[in-house]
Amino acid sequence: MKRSLWLLAPVLAAVAFAFGPEKKVVGATAVIHATKGQTVSGVVKLEAVDGGVKLTWDLKGLAPGKHGFHIHEFGDCNCDDGKCAGGHFNPDGKKHGGPATAERHAGDLGNIEAGADGSSKGEMTDKGLALHGERSIIGRAVILHEKEDDMATDPTGNAGARIGIGVIGISKEQ
Ligand code: CU
Ligand code: ZN
Repeated sequence: MKRSLWLLAPVLAAVAFAFGPEKKVVGATAVIHATKGQTVSGVVKLEAVDGGVKLTWDLKGLAPGKHGFHIHEFGDCNCDDGKCAGGHFNPDGKKHGGPATAERHAGDLGNIEAGADGSSKGEMTDKGLALHGERSIIGRAVILHEKEDDMATDPTGNAGARIGIGVIGISKEQ
């Protein structure tokens, strides 16, 4: 082969890399911190599973009872009240609902429930979310609310203040 062609080899390798298959994110973590005057803390782990995302949470410092649990559009924590996170993640342009309603924002995950000790642990899998592609929630926010989400009132579920927020970041592959 001519020497000039060999010189092209690194260029061709770089092109192949750039257009090669995207490495998919399989796991993510959102560390939840309290908004101003609130007390919730904990972690939400997210895992890419067949057809969706599995969320596993371990939280404390909550008032006993149900709390709205959503993915909000922006992973921006730079506001005392959590409002920089924008509204519920809504790539389909729908109205508010819950995980089991036909009409819903993709980010509508219903409620989590805290026990008498203020802690909540659990898991759920949601089919409308992803960790890659156009439904990706990487870089968006998990938000916990003061009150129960009624899973009907548009656009907020009437869930009250934003008491906790965590940005969804890529985790090291296990
Ligand atoms: Cu919310
Ligand atoms: Zn919603």
